Amino acid sequence: MKKSSIVIAGGGSTFTPGIVMMLLEHLNRFPIREIKFYDNDASRQEKIAKACAILLKERAPEIQFSYTIDPKEAFTNIDFVMAHIRVGKYAMREKDEKIPMKYGVFGQETCGPGGIAYGMRSIGAIIEIIDFMEKYSPNAWMLNYSNPAAIVAEATRCIRPNTKIINICDMPVGIEDRMAEILNLPNGRKDMDIRYYGLNHFGWWTDIRDKQGNDLMPKIKEHVAKYGYIVNPQQHGETEASWNDTYAKAKDVYAIDPDTLPNTYLKYYLFPDYVFAHDNQHPEHTRANEVMEHREKNVFAAAKQIVDKNTSNGCDFHSDEHASYIVDLAEAITFNKKARMLLIVENNGAISNFDPTAMVEIPCIVGANGYERVCVGKIPQFQKGLMEQQVSVEKLVVDAWISNSYQKLWQAISLSKTVPSVSIAKKILDDLITANKDYWPTLK
Ligand code: NAD
Ligand code: G6P
Ligand code: MN
Repeated sequence: MKKSSIVIAGGGSTFTPGIVMMLLEHLNRFPIREIKFYDNDASRQEKIAKACAILLKERAPEIQFSYTIDPKEAFTNIDFVMAHIRVGKYAMREKDEKIPMKYGVFGQETCGPGGIAYGMRSIGAIIEIIDFMEKYSPNAWMLNYSNPAAIVAEATRCIRPNTKIINICDMPVGIEDRMAEILNLPNGRKDMDIRYYGLNHFGWWTDIRDKQGNDLMPKIKEHVAKYGYIVNPQQHGETEASWNDTYAKAKDVYAIDPDTLPNTYLKYYLFPDYVFAHDNQHPEHTRANEVMEHREKNVFAAAKQIVDKNTSNGCDFHSDEHASYIVDLAEAITFNKKARMLLIVENNGAISNFDPTAMVEIPCIVGANGYERVCVGKIPQFQKGLMEQQVSVEKLVVDAWISNSYQKLWQAISLSKTVPSVSIAKKILDDLITANKDYWPTLK
């Protein structure tokens, strides 16, 4: 069986240990000969890498492991780049979340002005990583889940149209896990065949069936109409309050179109006033603060403990099992599995009444030569209208980055359904420009 070599870009990410643990659990179907970490922050990466070196030596000594900030070393002789970088790290996420709040608009990692600001930071860094990959390992695939995935995907479509990159998101998978729990399915989400369409963080399930072809939507809808995607709360003690709110709010998101089941991220576009009022109860303490206080603190403490004790026995790294969709993808490419998965790809006719150049999230069949789209057909006016507005935002952001255009970026923020007026968009933009001076191109 072929053994793959992987570089994890964003080696210092809070998700790196969970991904490594998860990869170890799936070696029987996706064997690995080498794992490398790459980051541009040597000291952050080293803290995670030293702990993972101990863990890998104890649990899979046959896998070669190294970490580096040198692109040539990192990207030479690899089969996959698994990319989860965060340009500007949490310090900039915090600004993305807090600046719009000053003007009555919620701030969020990937949605609204915050997501636009993050997109403007991510594009250049992702293109740089693509270029490293193509220079040192021209046959490799980049599996990208760096955010904002919608804007990153549109940027790579425009700027590196022939590159072997697949953009993916774990939110549909996370929601499908909850649906499977509602239904008590023995093998979880893998017992379901789904149809879904939309943009990244902006989509709907239209059909969910069991392996015999029976319709599972009615039972899920009955639950969502009452509880949103809250399931067995007593067994989900790890879910933070802010995520619980999001899962619960899916009840209201569902109500506007009971023909479909919604992605949780739609709450930001359909209930921006509610989200703002809720977040504005603690404007100085946003999700970035929560993540720094919880996930970041815990992951780095667990890494330090492994290094201090010089063993991973009893360690506090947790396998990110729901990230196993990344293995599904890598396995499908490596072994030509023709697996059906949701990917963010150029529409190209799959949604027949929608812009063929839009980057959409739809089911695809994945094999050694990449993906084939599953035909979605015609979508209803409500979804089409929302998606046309949002995809235009994403396209304008990429256009603004390419042409260094203040005007285009102002249009992008103004067009976001989350922003009430052009004048507020301008105020937010001017603040974001100052905050992002080290990361954005200079706008004219
Ligand atoms: P993090 O800040 O802990 O980690 C990101 C790492 O990227 C840091 O170590 C940082 O130094 C590094 N980095 C930044 N710029 C870089 C560059 N130019 N080159 C190389 N490395 C660089 O962030 P996190 O919370 O662990 O999240 C990581 C990323 O994964 C984010 O983009 C997040 O949104 C994304 N994510 C996506 C999904 C999805 O569904 N697509 C799911 C989870 C996380
Ligand atoms: C989900 C989304 C990701 C996003 C993450 C944010 O997993 O699919 O795209 O990055 O949530 O989570 P956080 O815990 O960092 O707020
Ligand atoms: Mn996502």
